[in-house]
Amino acid sequence: MTDEIKKGLLGIVVDETTISQVMPEINSLTYRGYAVQDLCEVCSFEEVAYLILNGDLPNSIQLNKFKKEEKANRNITINLREIINHMPKKAHPMDVARTFVSVMGLEDKETSDNSPEANMRKTMRIFAKTPTAIAAFFRVRKGKKIIKPKKDLSFSENFFYMCFGKVPQKEIVKAFDISLILYAEHSFNVSTFTARTITSSLSDIYGAITGAIASLKGPLHGGANEEVMHMMKKIKTPDKAKSWLIDNLNKKQVVMGFGHRVYKSGDSRVPTMKKYFLKVSKLKKDENLHKIGEIIEKEMLKRKNIHPNLDFPTGPTYHLMGFDTDFFTPIFVIARITGWSAHIMEQHISNKLIRPLSKYKGSKHRKVMLLNQR
Ligand code: SDX
Repeated sequence: MTDEIKKGLLGIVVDETTISQVMPEINSLTYRGYAVQDLCEVCSFEEVAYLILNGDLPNSIQLNKFKKEEKANRNITINLREIINHMPKKAHPMDVARTFVSVMGLEDKETSDNSPEANMRKTMRIFAKTPTAIAAFFRVRKGKKIIKPKKDLSFSENFFYMCFGKVPQKEIVKAFDISLILYAEHSFNVSTFTARTITSSLSDIYGAITGAIASLKGPLHGGANEEVMHMMKKIKTPDKAKSWLIDNLNKKQVVMGFGHRVYKSGDSRVPTMKKYFLKVSKLKKDENLHKIGEIIEKEMLKRKNIHPNLDFPTGPTYHLMGFDTDFFTPIFVIARITGWSAHIMEQHISNKLIRPLSKYKGSKHRKVMLLNQR
């Protein structure tokens, strides 16, 4: 047993997994052995969700059954709709998301059943209902009526429909689908490890995903995609980008959307997402954000040799799609539910309570004095 402290578990391998492999050495990421870039080229998000949850790509019969089950579970209860209707309008959508996942756990009869079959059924319910609940709050916060899900739309089409009342052109839906594939899974990141830690005490999937959402909200993790947009709104125009960055670096400020604990020569998901960020910028006839991004990226590489991570291109892309900035990380949630759920089920297969040690540096052992002696 070593008492060397590895703060943040830096470089520590704590378990094995069969779900994904982050391969910084070849700048790639594979889900169940398939390179994520190839999956983006060939598959829909539903196919990739099936892959992450079941271990292999579906054939057409399996895919149709999976889609049917997801669509059948999209509705949320009247009770949950009422709760969302009464959520404080100023609440952060990530706090609303972790709250309604908890409520879904209260409503689910199988919450305490940790069998693989029950966990897969609960996963499908959480996977299908979370977008509906997030879209519901997106509307309620604007004083608009909740739009019920439609069963004749794909996962991504339906999310746009529930948020905006219509489905955008197919290139926009494709870019959104790609962002969900790229956000779906990323091995032992902090929110996934949170979910596994909660699961390791044999607690339930609703509690594990509630904890994961709370972790993902943090600006050092999923919350970075919102912070990127706040940064771009401060910069405003491309001609201000360089001076803004230099000023921030001089103040030793962290530049959101850059850096990564595992990828040190670039996040393998970024080139694919950047391609779609540019496509959406051109479709929306607004390349201002893309131009700001290019300058910030160039200067960060030149001055700090730090590469952008997936949150950097994704945030402004969601802005161009019409989503409110504080809904960017909830979109990350609806994708990552697949990865979190797969890891929760994997933790159950070969569980060991997660309980690290700490090195004590507080007061020495001492006697308790009576109150009138203190
Ligand atoms: C995600 O783990 C995952 O897989 C996560 C994720 C996933 O899919 O689940 O990929 C999603 O969370 C991506 C990361 C999103 N977060 C951000 O964009 C926030 C900004 N990034 C930084 O906070 C940072 O890069 C971290 C937290 C992401 C990683 O930091 P580490 O590995 O703990 O490294 P560090 O903070 O110790 O930085 C090492 C050095 C430091 O300089 P020195 O103190 O050694 O001189 O690099 C510098 C840092 O100051 N640095 C940055 C920087 N990132 C690192 N300096 C300025 N801006 C940055 N963004």
